[in-house]
Amino acid sequence: MFQNRKILVVIGGGIAAYKSLELIRLIRQTGSEVIPVLTEAGERFVTPLSVTALAGTEVNTDLFDPAEEARIGHIALSRSADLVVIAPATADLIAKMAHGLADDLASTVLMATDTPVLVAPAMNVRMWQHSALQRNLATLADDGIEFVGPETGDMACGEFGPGRMAEPQTIMEAIDRILNPGERLAMKVVVTSGPTWEAIDPVRFIANRSSGKQGAEIARAFAENGAEVVFITGPAAEEPRVGIRVVRVETAREMLDAVKQELPAEVGIFAAAVADWRVANASPSKIKKKSGRTGQQLTLVENPDILATVAGLENRPGLVVGFAAETENLEENATAKRVRKGCDWIVANEVGEGTDTFGGDENTVLLVTGDGVDRWPRMPKSAVADRLVAEICDKLRQ
Ligand code: PMT
Repeated sequence: MFQNRKILVVIGGGIAAYKSLELIRLIRQTGSEVIPVLTEAGERFVTPLSVTALAGTEVNTDLFDPAEEARIGHIALSRSADLVVIAPATADLIAKMAHGLADDLASTVLMATDTPVLVAPAMNVRMWQHSALQRNLATLADDGIEFVGPETGDMACGEFGPGRMAEPQTIMEAIDRILNPGERLAMKVVVTSGPTWEAIDPVRFIANRSSGKQGAEIARAFAENGAEVVFITGPAAEEPRVGIRVVRVETAREMLDAVKQELPAEVGIFAAAVADWRVANASPSKIKKKSGRTGQQLTLVENPDILATVAGLENRPGLVVGFAAETENLEENATAKRVRKGCDWIVANEVGEGTDTFGGDENTVLLVTGDGVDRWPRMPKSAVADRLVAEICDKLRQ
């Protein structure tokens, strides 16, 4: 973890501001100095006194306060840190940054700074999904701003979805990655994720229970290590983090086309739960229910196998990693699948009743390679992703 650095922490006006007090405490535990800036809205959630006490230095709040300006001018403030962290970053602060507004101390400091900026967004799910906010995020990503979170979960407002500020420990890890960049992965990675939908008629479709969580975590882990990531996803609620290029598809055939479009790439990760079959002749109009008729038949045809197809291409990624979702004989089936599909590695997980693999936050996997089988303990899907990326880095280094 970084040590003895200077971090300017901007606290915006959101309920997550209370977590920033813990963030300040964690930063100071590393022997680093915190320069706190609290917005006017932020003061509604945490008091200047709390921030000052935890930061061990007087909080900065007012652009026009002569005493504050005399103590440390806002331009000096903006230049004095190794990193600026905005936590929580509200929709309003993000909009100000994207449009270059500077009408209070926080936004002026952000306009004037020449140090890297890390944004930890926090807001209601509808605000997060709003097209204006998404446009602003894209602008900031283009400007080279780094992001951590938001996380998906229950929100203080009672809704569920993406928008919850990353936990202080997660923000600390993101700060560390920026201050101690280490080796960056100079490579392109294609990740497939989520389910596919195969139409029966314009109303109904064949789908499966994949939430896209495992795939999204893998995309995040690669992006955090500096890789160029293309996230090709079937219809799933999971939002990958800002800065990852997302290609949305619906069917297996669309997913295959999208993957081919993105080649060449150094690594391909195939975490999508692709439908093996589709309806032979999907009806262009809604199939009517006819009372008393039983045994409505659907004729299925096999979908292309994306993993096997890509693994067999001349311009295949250097490392092709498939997944195996099994309800029994995990090791045996996954080992056979690796050979049958021609991929280099298989990440195998059980998906039977009671495993909670589909849609859950944790996973228990086996990594099957040409060298054998490695059993990993149960862990969060984020940790599975981090470990997989670390294994891949080791492999590529060899
Ligand atoms: O999305 P989550 O809720 O987080 O759940 C994660 C997960 C369980 C979906 C994920 O960890 C996982 O196991 N993904 C692969 C699911 C799957 O389709 O397994 P499979 O054993 O049926 O397929 C084996 C491999 O072939 C997979 O890499 C799959 O992407 C690929 N495949 C399968 C069929 C097909 N037509 N084309 C393919 O490319």
